[in-house]
Amino acid sequence: NEKGESSSIFKMGNSAQERSLPYVPDCYAVPPSYEPRDALDSNFEIVPTIDISRLKGSDDERRGVIQELSSACQLFGFFQVVNHGINQNILDDALEVAHGFFELPAKEKKKFMSNDVYAPVRYTTSIKDGLDKIQFWRIFLKHYAHPLHRWIHLWPQNPPEYREKMGKFCEEVRSLSLEIMGAITESLGLGRDYLSSRMDKNGMQVMAVNCYPPCPDPTTALGLPPHSDYSCITILLQNLTGLEIFHLSAHGGSGRWVLVPEVKGVLKVHIGDHVEVLSNGLYNSVIHKVTLNEEKTRISLASLHSLGMDDKMSVPYQLVNNENPARYRESSFNDFLAFLVKNDISQGERFIDTL
Ligand code: SIN
Ligand code: FE2
Repeated sequence: NEKGESSSIFKMGNSAQERSLPYVPDCYAVPPSYEPRDALDSNFEIVPTIDISRLKGSDDERRGVIQELSSACQLFGFFQVVNHGINQNILDDALEVAHGFFELPAKEKKKFMSNDVYAPVRYTTSIKDGLDKIQFWRIFLKHYAHPLHRWIHLWPQNPPEYREKMGKFCEEVRSLSLEIMGAITESLGLGRDYLSSRMDKNGMQVMAVNCYPPCPDPTTALGLPPHSDYSCITILLQNLTGLEIFHLSAHGGSGRWVLVPEVKGVLKVHIGDHVEVLSNGLYNSVIHKVTLNEEKTRISLASLHSLGMDDKMSVPYQLVNNENPARYRESSFNDFLAFLVKNDISQGERFIDTL
């Protein structure tokens, strides 16, 4: 009974997605509350878009960006950046080698297969394949990317240009992340250097290289369930639409899902849980999910930037006073991974420790 198959999909070396099944196996059906795609979706709404080149402009221009950024972080926990200075070829090349990797024979990709959330390079499907109750229509490769020289030799050597092209992308995105983090801390009144040396010296960069193959029924399955990222920020590149963000303050406070449009060259920035902590709740980490496409393969590169593995993020004393006490417990990236292991889950919907 293939339709009822649950745990052994990936052990065969080929996930349901990769075998191009003409139907969605039961284990991929998500609860209706996750709202997989319906035929009428496409609530394209105004998603904030920021011309980030002005961060390097005059004081006034920089102030303008900081203001836009602050309002986007409060209202959406999400924004898009244009004029980020990363060459289009570098973006295209990274998407191309990512796609190339997923096209490799299963045997080649299997070398990287692991369910260990601590592994610096791992390839799997549905997060913890065969263990999660609900599976998601996603295959992914996750690898550490900073410091690059420490990790790059563990990355795939196939396609032959994978390391070079993905490495270049990772480096460029990383410097963009430091620039954006500087603007975020400045927008909170902490100054632009508040975290930069901590992030520069031992900060983590984890690259999630995602592949969402065509799905025979996008109304029952999801690429990823609603969650927030356990990072400071995540910078995302995609080849197709599919990312949906939950716009909290839309429509009288009830909120609704918004499909993020795809415009070539535009990068997306998610506010992660650690910036929510850093801002003592002024900024919200964005709840997002991935809906599927019936015909096309979607590739996304999500670069997660955070403090070092054991470096705790806490609410700065500058943002705390009698009327506004600290709302979050301090935590590290490692605490998050320990939480996943302890609860035997692959992805908390939201791991954030409030006081
Ligand atoms: C993520 O959840 O960060 C990945 C989202 C995507 O594929 O767009
Ligand atoms: Fe995410």
